[in-house]
Amino acid sequence: MRKYLYSIASYKPGKPVEELQRELGISRIVKLASNENPFPPSPLVRRRICEAANRINRYPESSVFYLRKRLAAEFSVDENEIIFGNGSDELIVFAVRSLVSPGDEILTAIPTFLIYKIASMVEGISIREIPMKDFKYDLKAIASAVSSNTKLIFIANPDNPTGSYVNKSEVESFLASLPSDVFVFFDEAYFEFAREMDDWPDTLSYVKEKRNVIVSRTFSKYYGLAGLRIGYGFARRDIIDIMNKVREPFNVNSIAQTAALAALDSKQYYEKLYRVFKKEKRFLENTFRKLRVEFLPSVTNFLLVKIGNNASDLVEALLKRGIIVRHMKAWGMPEFIRVTVGQPGENRRFIKELKRLLK
Ligand SMILES: Cc1ncc(COP(=O)(O)O)c(C=O)c1O
Repeated sequence: MRKYLYSIASYKPGKPVEELQRELGISRIVKLASNENPFPPSPLVRRRICEAANRINRYPESSVFYLRKRLAAEFSVDENEIIFGNGSDELIVFAVRSLVSPGDEILTAIPTFLIYKIASMVEGISIREIPMKDFKYDLKAIASAVSSNTKLIFIANPDNPTGSYVNKSEVESFLASLPSDVFVFFDEAYFEFAREMDDWPDTLSYVKEKRNVIVSRTFSKYYGLAGLRIGYGFARRDIIDIMNKVREPFNVNSIAQTAALAALDSKQYYEKLYRVFKKEKRFLENTFRKLRVEFLPSVTNFLLVKIGNNASDLVEALLKRGIIVRHMKAWGMPEFIRVTVGQPGENRRFIKELKRLLK
């Protein structure tokens, strides 16, 4: 056995709806804990999934042929500059496995997405976590922390759990300050929610300039396909080729491939959901303000909310009422909870219980 694996704190996902249903014996559960799209995928996606079910006696296309063509056209990149993962989580693992060797080092921030640390530790690679500044990636501090062993830097942009982002000029000075043999992985799982910011960094342009940059995105959040597990990444061809060496041939199932393509064909449906989301996010923000509950500005579909010393009790009390939010203890922020923007009725039920519990 690899004994060092025992020391790794395994990732603890948000409680599944079905689990709480079993525990409480009630059917109406509100889950605002995993930054998912709270609405079902588009009717077209659901129809195509049913059709694709007839063909699952066959292995999926390892090349993800049709979706690859579609994304290449949509983002004007070469088809060979795209890689697919069983969720974008898997692309993080591919990067650690293929770009970093034992003795090298990885950098990221703290608090950020926990999988960077877990994936590095599982591979036996050391990772240094550079503290954020005002709940935001401190790119200057990360650049100063780069050593001759540093080979890979993970940047969640926007970040989970803070909801903050690093802007174009910050990213450009950062990239310019790095040694030429360091790879930067921009994890853009929440890209669709942040892309309208005026100073959003166009990271794909760095890929097109053939820099040491990997950009990952996902169908799990905006497109509501979290249960199917499909994410994609862009990078220079030689980077994609080496990442593909550690990819299992059938890592993306055929239903996920079909559903993702149909999701891209359902733009209007998702734009409609996005408008609802924006309204609902404003509703939650305004209500928190009225209740004098502190929260961080966020360019994502979730809010990091400061509750105080009793955050853990609040999360437990909400759970008993069938409402799942995320306590931030695993991120070293025990006074905070993270709340995903849900459907209108779900947000109101959460607020009603929150008001009752805060009294
Ligand atoms: C920052 C970030 N990256 C990646 C992921 C993984 O998403 P998926 O594997 O579903 O694509 C998440 C999910 O919560 C996330 O918050």
